[in-house]
Parts: sequence; structure tokens; C-alpha cells
Amino acid sequence: MSEKTCEVTRRLAERFPNAGKENLLQMLQEIQREQGYLTDNDIRCVGRYLRMPVSRIYSIATFYNQFRFAPAGRYQVKVCRGTACHVMGSVTVLQELIKQLGIEPGQTTRNGQFSLEVAECMGACSLSPVIAINDVFFDKVTPERIRQIINEYRNRED
Ligand code: FES
Repeated sequence: MSEKTCEVTRRLAERFPNAGKENLLQMLQEIQREQGYLTDNDIRCVGRYLRMPVSRIYSIATFYNQFRFAPAGRYQVKVCRGTACHVMGSVTVLQELIKQLGIEPGQTTRNGQFSLEVAECMGACSLSPVIAINDVFFDKVTPERIRQIINEYRNRED
């Protein structure tokens, strides 16, 4: 692996000069903040830098459900998985989105129209369960409402 392909770790080394495995999440968050998502190359470089197996990094990154491995879609769908939303049925909301979009959290549809992610409490607990598409919030959503919302966005021309 050349120096150039690990540019990301050169930048991280400046910011995390004495980084160890305990800094893994922080480093991945930083890369995602800068680039919008993590590439296979980023994971390999971080693995080399922290002396961690790539498979371990993937397993940790996918466990936390906050990392993207592809560029975000034009419509970024976020599902709140905070406690209030969980109690009010966010699991079925997420399942319906997975079914409607044909992708898992962290993925983007092939046509680049939608990406799906889960989020911590989105600050609207009294209106749970909530989702957001880009900056638009939808409250008290049900699987049926999800189908309507996704169809509306599918047919948009903006
Ligand atoms: S738990 Fe979903 S908005 Fe707070």
C-alpha cells in the first residue's frame, strides 16, 4: 500500500499522534465527517495504523450502525432508534424502510436516490416514532405512512 493510498492515516496521525485501539471510533467518525463515508481503503489504512485486523474494524464499525460505506443518497433517510421511538415501534418502521428501499442501514440504493441510517434520539420524543429525510421530519410514523412517504419521494423530480 503506497503512501498516497493512506493519505487518510497521515491526516489522522496529525490529529491523533498517540492513537491506540481506543481511538478507533473517533478516527472513523473523523474520516466519515470529512468524506461522508468510509471506503475499503480507509478501513485498511486505519487497520495498519492501529495494527488491527480489517475484519475487526468492519465488525466494530457495522455494530455501531453510524457509519456509511457508500456515498449518501440524494435523500438521506434517518430512523430514530432512541428509547422513546423504540417503545413506540421504531423497529417496525425500520423494517418497513429496509423492505421499501431494499437496503440496510449504512447503504445507498443503486440509483443513488436513497440512503438509510439509524440515529440516536432526534429530540422529538413526544412525537415518536420519528424519521427524517434530509432536514424534513416525519412524526408518529407507521409502516403504512412510510410506504406513502417513500412513494412521494420516489416520484419527486427535485
Ligand atoms: S427517542 Fe426518538 S426522538 Fe427521542
